[in-house]
Amino acid sequence: MKKIKDIFKFKKQSAGLVCDVNPPSAYGSDIITVKNLTKQFMGIKAIDDLTVNFPQAKTIGLIGANGSGKTTLVNILTGMLFPDSGEITVRDKKRTHIKSSELRKYRIARTFQDGRLIEQMSVIDNLLLPVAENNLIESLKEVSTKDYQDRLEKVLEITSLTEHKNKNAEELSYGLRKLLEIGRVLMQDADIYFFDEPFSGLFPEIVEQVCEIICGLQSQGKTIVIIEHNMSLIKRLCNYTIVLNHGKLLAEGIPEEVLQNKAVRESYLGI
Ligand SMILES: Nc1ncnc2c1ncn2[C@@H]1O[C@H](COP(=O)(O)OP(=O)(O)OP(=O)(O)O)[C@@H](O)[C@H]1O
Ligand SMILES: [Mg+2]
Repeated sequence: MKKIKDIFKFKKQSAGLVCDVNPPSAYGSDIITVKNLTKQFMGIKAIDDLTVNFPQAKTIGLIGANGSGKTTLVNILTGMLFPDSGEITVRDKKRTHIKSSELRKYRIARTFQDGRLIEQMSVIDNLLLPVAENNLIESLKEVSTKDYQDRLEKVLEITSLTEHKNKNAEELSYGLRKLLEIGRVLMQDADIYFFDEPFSGLFPEIVEQVCEIICGLQSQGKTIVIIEHNMSLIKRLCNYTIVLNHGKLLAEGIPEEVLQNKAVRESYLGI
């Protein structure tokens, strides 16, 4: 197992940092592919015959107007929803759907747009939950390992939660709650991280802190998918962009080009 210092080894940088757009290894392949994926809710096509690829080791901005299907797609790729039809390939294994119980096997972790903290549980217990959810017996063994304790300490430190570790989630400020959500995914040693609007409602200094955390993951060659409406953050952090429109792919590619795309400017950016 990788050492925590390797997982979270990243340069401290000043505010306004730009992620390294050239990750450590040039993998050049797709870690997830989605083919003809469809998901309807009461006749509304949230995902409409979508075919799209997620390149490995890239930081991917998943963008699109409200209701364009971003969260639904992430919910399908993290086993929260089953699609009506289509195919999902994760690391060359084809599936019709992903089960949430398989996320650890696929080394996928995610945050939730609406938050999933357990209010009456401590910060430490909230951080433990994603590990415990999978297999209680295994997780009890894991929690007692030095690796887990080192990871916990490091995650508490980079999320500024060390001094709050014994408080219940309900006692935390909004910013610290968002950092706790992010801490929960960092506790999982994953390869693919989905962040659903991790910056929403945050003060600038916490935005910087979250950017630094994401850059740290990027420097480790992780595949990161960020749903975000702020285009300057997308340009700053991402080296790939996928744009959805009414559940369909509108554009994909490097952010500078995609954000100049006429259809994207007209239908999403409104310019
Ligand atoms: N559980 C649900 N039941 C009914 N309709 C849903 C459900 N989840 C999503 N939808 C609908 O599916 C469409 C896509 O929603 P989704 O939440 O995926 O969009 P989004 O791109 O994440 O939007 P936002 O930027 O506002 O978060 C919307 O029309 C939404 O109302
Ligand atoms: Mg959403």
